[in-house]
Amino acid sequence: MSAVSGESPLSLALPKGRLFERTLEHFAERGLRVPPAGRELIAADERGMLRIFIVKNSDLPVYVSHGIAGLGICGSDVLYEAGGVFFDLLEFSFGATRMCLAAREDHEHDAAPRRLKVATKFPVFTRDFFNSRGIPVEIIKLHGSVELAPVLGLAPYIVDLVETGSTLKANGLKIVEELENTKVKLIANPAYYKVHYKKVNDFVSFLRGADLEERA
Ligand code: PRP
Repeated sequence: MSAVSGESPLSLALPKGRLFERTLEHFAERGLRVPPAGRELIAADERGMLRIFIVKNSDLPVYVSHGIAGLGICGSDVLYEAGGVFFDLLEFSFGATRMCLAAREDHEHDAAPRRLKVATKFPVFTRDFFNSRGIPVEIIKLHGSVELAPVLGLAPYIVDLVETGSTLKANGLKIVEELENTKVKLIANPAYYKVHYKKVNDFVSFLRGADLEERA
């Protein structure tokens, strides 16, 4: 990578949480190590290739669309909610999940509902998905712990990400329908990509498995 030979690092936003750990594991498998940052929200890898901003998942597209971070690693679910124009550079093999409609285990689902009441962190996706089926949907926007909504009676349904299914199970919920598969992507701010395309392309090749030492 060119940054190894003294150029300025690429700026990359990473989301806090599970995806952050998995991304660092993916980097480490390719020989790119990022020392633990503690509570600091700006980090760097040992070789000086990357300047990393650690942001809240749903804020990541904001940092990339404003060009504060040139690159970001993010779920397609979050990108769909944010809208905006990004270049998709890569889909990763890790972090795929399912966007699901779920309800209490004892809920009897009407296969052809006339309308739905849904609590979700993903109102744009939920509205678009059910509107495309011609089903009006009342959406209650939440920011987390969505599984509580059917348990406490806020809404009979949730639309949420399901990975292992353990959160649903632990709260007495079941999948009613799998709506979409989500992927983790590397995205770029279009203007940043145009200016730094060579270095960014090198980084993409590196993430695809090209050897770091050979490319340096
Ligand atoms: C996500 C998602 C589910 C859970 C699913 O939440 O919204 O709650 O993970 O994972 P599982 O199927 O492996 O149990 P997250 O951990 O991001 O927390 P949040 O509710 O605070 O957004």
